[in-house]
Parts: sequence; C-alpha cells; structure tokens
Amino acid sequence: MSPFIIKRMSTVFAQRLLAWYARHQRALPWRAAPGQAAPDPYQVWVSEIMLQQTQVETVIPYYRRWLERFPTLAALAAASQPAVLALWEGLGYYSRARNLHRAARQVQRERGGLLPRTAAELRALPGIGRYTAGAIASIAFGQDSAVLDGNVKRVLARVFDLRADVKSAAGEQQLWALAESLLPPGRAGDFNQALMDLGATVCAPRAPDCPRCPLNDLCEARRLGVQLERPVTPARRPAPHRVWLAAVVVKRGRVLLEQRAQGALLGGLWAFPAVEPLPDAGPRPATQLRRALRDQWGLTVKLGPRTQTVEHGFTHFTLTLCVFDGEWVAGRLKRGGAARQWVRVADLGDYPMGKVDRQVAKRLGGD
Ligand code: ADE
Repeated sequence: MSPFIIKRMSTVFAQRLLAWYARHQRALPWRAAPGQAAPDPYQVWVSEIMLQQTQVETVIPYYRRWLERFPTLAALAAASQPAVLALWEGLGYYSRARNLHRAARQVQRERGGLLPRTAAELRALPGIGRYTAGAIASIAFGQDSAVLDGNVKRVLARVFDLRADVKSAAGEQQLWALAESLLPPGRAGDFNQALMDLGATVCAPRAPDCPRCPLNDLCEARRLGVQLERPVTPARRPAPHRVWLAAVVVKRGRVLLEQRAQGALLGGLWAFPAVEPLPDAGPRPATQLRRALRDQWGLTVKLGPRTQTVEHGFTHFTLTLCVFDGEWVAGRLKRGGAARQWVRVADLGDYPMGKVDRQVAKRLGGD
C-alpha cells in the first residue's frame, strides 16, 4: 500500500482503535488506574521485560510478587542477584532478570534512580531493545514512539495485507515504518497498548473475531479472506534435540550443586552437575558421567541406574535430562571457575534453579 494511502487511513485507524480501547482495554496491574494520569515508569519497565515472550496471565502473579519485594527501582538496585533470580524462577529467559537488575543498578548509580524518557536513551540500557524502549517511552513518558511485538505485527500484517515474511529484515522494516506512520501524536501509549490488546483478544492467531473488530472494514486481509494466511512467517525448522546427563551426588545428607556461569544458558542459576555425552558409540552414559565427576569435579562417585528423565523445550533446542543418583565415595570438590556447594536437601528451595533442575530437586523433596 502506498505511503500516501496509509497516511490518509491513519486518522481513522487511530480513532477507531482508541475508541475501542477506551471501552475494552484489559485491566492490568501495571496500567494507570482510572483517573491516574500516567503509570509508574519503573512498573511499566518491569512489566514490559516480564511480558517479553510470556503471556499476560502468566506474568501477573510474578509481577505482583516482584513489586511487593522490590517496590522501587532503588529496592531492586540494592537487591542481590540470587534474590532477583529467586523471584524470577519459573518465568524462564533468565537473562531478562539479570539485565533488569544490572540496568537498575546502572540507573541508580548514574542517574539517581530516574529512568531516561526517550526511546533512544532507554535502548542504551541492558535488556532494552527497540520494542521495549518504544513501549516504556510511549506508555510511561507519553513519547511518540512505536512498538512492534507479535500481536502488533499480526494486526498490521492483516489490516495492510502484508505479504513479506514478518520475521525477515525487509518485513520488519515495513512493519516498523507502518507502526510509526500510524501513531497518533500525543496518544502513542494508549495506541500501542490498544494494538497489543486487540491482537491478544480479538485479532487472535488462529481464530480472529472479525465481527467484533473495530478495524474490520479497513482490513485488507479480511476483504480478501486471507486473515489466516497473515502474518506470513517462515516455515519452522524443528528445534534440535540434546541430551544431558545429570548426577544427584549425595554426601552425608547433602547434594552437590553448581552455579551456572554468568552469560551462559541459565547463567547465575544453580544446577545439578551435568555433562553433554558424546554423540555416538562412546562409553555408556553412566560411565561418561562418572568420569566427568572425577575429572571436572574431583570426586569418586558410585552411580546407580537412571532414576529420572526430564524433558524441556528451550528456545533453540529441546532437552532430555537423564538423571542418575549417586553416592560420594572419595575426593575433595574441585572449585573450578564456578561456585560449587554441598547443599542440604531441605535447603534446595533457597537456591534459584531453572525448571529442569527444580523438577529434580522436587523429587528429592527439597523445594
Ligand atoms: N504485552 C506487552 N506489553 C503489553 C502491555 N503494555 N499491555 C498489554 N500487553 C502487552
């Protein structure tokens, strides 16, 4: 569609969307209460980071607990990383929590605790990309900044019948240009959230409720009957599958945990010692695990048969964790680069873990 036609449509597009939002917006805990002019920027920031890759219903209880524990940016900046990770546990994508914490410390140190107001400055902070910067700048500070997340992409790709792959660089560029050219000056916060709510509640991926949509007579995909074919996305390649072997090593009522390296997958979280076995015929899994415990952890361990299997889907691969229970026989724990500790089973709940290791801890009765 030509930029000229889009510009002409933009007024009616925004009017319809804002009128719909005034009546149908979701009551969400991070939004301004009725009568309140603007929401708290710290609360908007926390919510936007939690909402990356995570559904609103999942986020709400985490968000409430977070604000009880860290009610202000200063409280978050003063917290320890384990305390932060413990509150995030179960939400996944833990780099979000680590970056939020780092950014809070930076803002506290360098700006007296005040978040920057523009999308460009917000983007300079850890964990804030183009989408999140636009969301915070528009919702918390009333700036005319656009956003583009999965819901917004779907609405725009349908209304404007975008044929480009929305995950390609060219598709993204067209969508950002659309999102920017449609913004009603001074109303970007409501406009952006209206697009998000419309995408989440009406313009749903598989069952769009077109009769209830305020944009239905503007929607090119609907006119052509191709709503379900928009947005165009690339064929998904199946995620690769990996197997890890983990050991529950018991020594006098304590089990061995290791803190994963900062910057690695699940960095900063605690895990049972694990190795990725050689892909083919090498020694039996239990033998590989026993050798790794000896060479990398310095321990002689008597391993029993496999006691548990945990499956989990990460973003880029699926995992099968095969867990073997074992008993320490001899050897002093090598410290290595990572923090390693013998932990009482009753204290396992104090150590933040990813979902997979938490399932192992739960079997042992420590959660
Ligand atoms: N998803 C991400 N941010 C959101 C917001 N502010 N409102 C509704 N859904 C969202």
